[in-house]
Amino acid sequence: MKISVIGCGYLGAVHAVAMAELGHDVVGVDVDADRIALLADGKAPFFEPELDQLLERGLASGRLQFTTSPTSAADADVHFLAVGTPQKPGAHAADLTYVDAAFATILGVAKSGSLIVGKSTVPVGTAQRLAAQLPAHGETVSLAWNPEFLREGFAIKDTLEPDRLVYGVVAGDQGREDAERLDAVYHAAISTGTPRIVTDYATSELVKVSANAFLATKISFINAISEIADVAGADITALADAIGQDARIGRRFLNAGVGFGGGCLPKDIRAFAARAEELGKGSSLAFLNEVDAINLRQRQRVVDLAVEALGGSVNERRIVILGVSFKPNSDDVRDSPALDVAVQLKGLGADVVATDPEGIENARRRHPQLSYVPSLRDALRDAELVVLVTEWQEYRDIDPRDASSLVARPHIIDGRNALDPVRWRASGWTYRGMGRP
Ligand code: UGA
Repeated sequence: MKISVIGCGYLGAVHAVAMAELGHDVVGVDVDADRIALLADGKAPFFEPELDQLLERGLASGRLQFTTSPTSAADADVHFLAVGTPQKPGAHAADLTYVDAAFATILGVAKSGSLIVGKSTVPVGTAQRLAAQLPAHGETVSLAWNPEFLREGFAIKDTLEPDRLVYGVVAGDQGREDAERLDAVYHAAISTGTPRIVTDYATSELVKVSANAFLATKISFINAISEIADVAGADITALADAIGQDARIGRRFLNAGVGFGGGCLPKDIRAFAARAEELGKGSSLAFLNEVDAINLRQRQRVVDLAVEALGGSVNERRIVILGVSFKPNSDDVRDSPALDVAVQLKGLGADVVATDPEGIENARRRHPQLSYVPSLRDALRDAELVVLVTEWQEYRDIDPRDASSLVARPHIIDGRNALDPVRWRASGWTYRGMGRP
């Protein structure tokens, strides 16, 4: 099938590469000439496991191209809209400028009979609004909404082997045809029995934001309980293991710590609550404001623990921050809790040294005032306090005995509850977790 992908950011670049891997002819289109040049040269513009290899394979096969020219997308049968929907500056709502612009661009070139498929995360009602702009008569272009559930760090696997496919389509024959066309695109996943839910536009839009809202709520739930565990002297990790045994609850996304960040969960719950307000149902999603507040409080909690650990002031004290990306296996620092903690401690006068296996370049662009040291051993040297805020495997694997020979003072705050307190304490460290005795 001939496919175009409009927008080659995280979602779009991964989608384009994955579609080529499935055997489709793909053209990726983006207005960012530097990004397109990198992709066309076989270089992933961000860190994502396996992306480089698949990109190289797709380009070598001749089935994958990247361009800044939308006219190259003109003969595609299916156009995927994969542009960003960031938070509006100074507001909680989503900024739909890029979606609107990309949709207009595609409408300008799409051939009759082709299908436009929205993948971007949008406020409910967006697809209906866009569909009203489709040509009204004759053989036309149709629109479906097909939200994406990929996780950074597992983006390729999640795209090639999704746990479900959701199609928002119009009612009647046109919707059935559009769903069949999407089945052909996702033939590989469909043939292995991947669940597929065919529904209307509004439901498909709400599925996406509800899923992210649920995940965010789960994390803030365990973090709120961990605040209680802290004052009660209970152990949040054992608690999560215990309640997680209940299949109705499940253990995943119950890891207490510095909280969620990234380009999705934080802005999606804000945009969802803002959309509910617009729909006159603000009180229905008011709890998401609390989910957000609990989440942001965890960052402050780590900062407070650091101040406490250093006897009331971090001024001119050397603190090493382990991790700056918003989660392991990613170089994404958007709304990163880890980076926020580093910046706050720097603001309090600390001599902050931050390290990360992949995220330093992105972090430096946003916060050049911090010192970055790529080597973990060099970063640890002479630290008076170690703060683990992104649980990369190499930080989980640190040998506490070896690390204690590098630091000035063996004191660690485990902002992700990723380490074994018994082992660290046995090696002479003062260990503080989040909601752990
Ligand atoms: C999230 C969703 O998980 C995806 O399903 C969705 O497709 C994506 O957003 C999106 O909307 O594009 P992602 O942002 O890649 O994916 O990251 P997650 O793995 O969900 O982690 C989000 C944050 O929650 C990270 O900062 C992580 O450290 C934190 N987290 C996760 C916790 O603090 N505790 C947990 O138990 C789990």
